[in-house]
Amino acid sequence: MANKYRTHTCGELRGADAGKRVRLSGWVESLRRHGGVAFASLRDRYGVTQLRLDTSKPLWNVFANLTRESVVCVSGLVQARPSDARNPNMKTGEIEVAVEEVEVLSAVSSSLPFEIKEAKSVEPAVRFKYRYLEMREGSLIETLVFRHRLFSKIREFLSSEGFVEVETPCLTRSTPEGARDYLVPSRVHAGKFYALPQSPQLFKQLLMVGGLDKYFQIARCFRDEDLRADRQPEFTQLDVEMAFVEEEDVYDLVEHLICFVVEQTVGERLKRPFKRISYEDALLRYGSDAPDIRFGMEISDLSDIAAKSKSEILLSVLEKKGVVRGLCVNAALSRKELSLAEEVVKSCGAKGILHFHIEADGVRSPFAKFFDSVALDALKNRFDAKAGDTILVVADEERPAQTALGYLRKHLAQRLNIPRNPRLSFLWVVDWKLVELDEEGVLTNLHHPFTSPHPDDLERLESEPLSVRARAYDIVLNGSELGGGSIRIHNPDIQMRILKLLGLDEKTARDRFGFLLDALKSGAPPHGGIALGLDRFTAFLLGFDSITDVIAFPKTRQATCPLTDSPNEVTEEQLRDLHISIVKEKNSLS
Ligand code: AMO
Repeated sequence: MANKYRTHTCGELRGADAGKRVRLSGWVESLRRHGGVAFASLRDRYGVTQLRLDTSKPLWNVFANLTRESVVCVSGLVQARPSDARNPNMKTGEIEVAVEEVEVLSAVSSSLPFEIKEAKSVEPAVRFKYRYLEMREGSLIETLVFRHRLFSKIREFLSSEGFVEVETPCLTRSTPEGARDYLVPSRVHAGKFYALPQSPQLFKQLLMVGGLDKYFQIARCFRDEDLRADRQPEFTQLDVEMAFVEEEDVYDLVEHLICFVVEQTVGERLKRPFKRISYEDALLRYGSDAPDIRFGMEISDLSDIAAKSKSEILLSVLEKKGVVRGLCVNAALSRKELSLAEEVVKSCGAKGILHFHIEADGVRSPFAKFFDSVALDALKNRFDAKAGDTILVVADEERPAQTALGYLRKHLAQRLNIPRNPRLSFLWVVDWKLVELDEEGVLTNLHHPFTSPHPDDLERLESEPLSVRARAYDIVLNGSELGGGSIRIHNPDIQMRILKLLGLDEKTARDRFGFLLDALKSGAPPHGGIALGLDRFTAFLLGFDSITDVIAFPKTRQATCPLTDSPNEVTEEQLRDLHISIVKEKNSLS
């Protein structure tokens, strides 16, 4: 719509507009002089328009003294470019605007920290500090527009299914999702703190108790945890909850939602139903609870073959109840690749790797001498290995061996450029265990403490907790966890038993979760749901490796925001208001 600043955007004018008087506003991207005439490129979110400037006119002086990236408003006449000056690569390449008037709206006074066109190659901390300049390069804006479209399509689908978007509080109590909380001190209540939500988990359950029936929220969550390419301290979830449902209802809804939004945004048609794999199977066959099943290289147990070897290493691992597992790569790995593979395995806590090169006339390996020919044949047959393949074996305690082979599998697929098809591969991981022992031997939940145990296993909850199944599920996209959810506990007694199992005494359980227990006592429907990580989803749809590429103002790996320079000190007065005093660590330098 025309206004004081523009009649058109910089991406709008075409050959048919020649002869019109127009007004455009934007950033001066470049200025080029050719004798008596000069050309400027004027850019806004929608495109670039070429401006023609007569260097004999006074307005040329305005342009000549302008620094690039200044903001101007120009008026002038749209002219068709001479045929040899047309640019088919530009939406507005058929025309230029002969400028008659110019107003400088904002002049750039100092030089910018980087060339806008080179923004993508600038290191992240600098890009994040000047995110508004990176945006002008254009691709980040395209991403944000895509993200907006994806979110709109999610809202459209869920609204059409009768879901209601409800906002839940950000100043709240801790919601245990396995990370540390970000705390907010209360001014009014000395010594007391709010926690920012790790997820809206408990509120969505309360909405079900209240009878809302179908809830969703595009919710901001906060978790103080170690950051990686797919983790930010604050991130966005699509949070969903439904009453009177079982697992299949959640799978059905999520699959339809994903199929709809994927087709509507990137135009890809997905096949339903999505594949499913059990948690146990995922760990055994892929060494990961979020496996990438787009390529083979499955892990096999080799304990039976190892037991028949004469290798002291293998035999002693088996004796100590460890495992011997391996995978087969369709490539003869060089010494360099083998040593990289060894590094991967060691970084996962496993002690090392054994390799076997399969050749036309036998097996070449420093370890072959510990196996007789029957065992070597069995090894080859286990993987259906052919000449030119390499079998890699890890012998260790189960957890490091499993993790190491899982990472090794992904590492090799990447190093060897193994094709991974289809581009988007969704997978449900089902049949989770309720609890496991953490590294310190303490019982911890695999999802969160509000996940329902399988009703058939309830009687073993206290006697054999590690054998109890959970009514939980994860959805995995291309080998990364996209979302997780469960059918919840809606019985207050079972909820209390779980909290006790996780080490809370009755008083602490009531202190922390009394509001939930009371709600469950007030008549709670069976309910369940899921949350999908929307930063991850957006990144996968666009093929980015890091979620910082799809977040407008991301934080660094050190959880800092270089743009606002946060976190930062606050004034003594603010601290006093909050009843907080900072205790300097003894060995602090300042
Ligand atoms: P969960 O903890 O599995 O489940 O989180 C759901 C999804 O959120 C994304 N996610 C993250 N994304 C970016 N940065 C992070 N730090 C981060 N942490 C998690 C992941 C993850 O799969 N309340 C439960 C859901 C439920 O039970 O309904 C929950 O939050 O993609």
